[in-house]
Amino acid sequence: MAQVSMTVNGKAASGDVEGRTLLVQFLRENLHLTGTHVGCDTSQCGACVVHVNGKAVKACTMLAAEAEGAEVRTIEGMANADGSLNTVQQAFQDHHGLQCGFCTPGMVMSASALLAENPNPTETEIRAYLEGNICRCTGYHNIVKAIMAAAGQDVSKIAAE
Ligand code: FES
Ligand code: FES
Repeated sequence: MAQVSMTVNGKAASGDVEGRTLLVQFLRENLHLTGTHVGCDTSQCGACVVHVNGKAVKACTMLAAEAEGAEVRTIEGMANADGSLNTVQQAFQDHHGLQCGFCTPGMVMSASALLAENPNPTETEIRAYLEGNICRCTGYHNIVKAIMAAAGQDVSKIAAE
């Protein structure tokens, strides 16, 4: 066991981990931040996406020890300071970008990282960026619509699915 320390959602966090402990395990089991989901064991689903130093990362592909000293943000750290939903979260709600919600934390984290890199993405760019996030429920249409709305784009002309 070794101690690992990082900043998670703006607060110092540390704990004892094994060398093989994944970042997603550290977040869920040590810090009880269970909004970051585990949906596969093949690094394909994207339910575990968090931000590490501002970049979207699948937290099942990174060791906790590799995040030593990093700034990590999880879905629990995405709401506005007053607790209200942020722009991306609100857009998912407004445009029905979720059904069961299992993929949603990862989708919101990926969408936020995309918009930080590219504030005005096209539908094609959004779909390409989300290739690492799997949703079993929505058919993606309303997720794409929500992200376009979060970017301030007019989604009224996008056909309903
Ligand atoms: S849990 Fe599926 S990609 Fe990480
Ligand atoms: S809303 Fe159910 S998996 Fe995406």
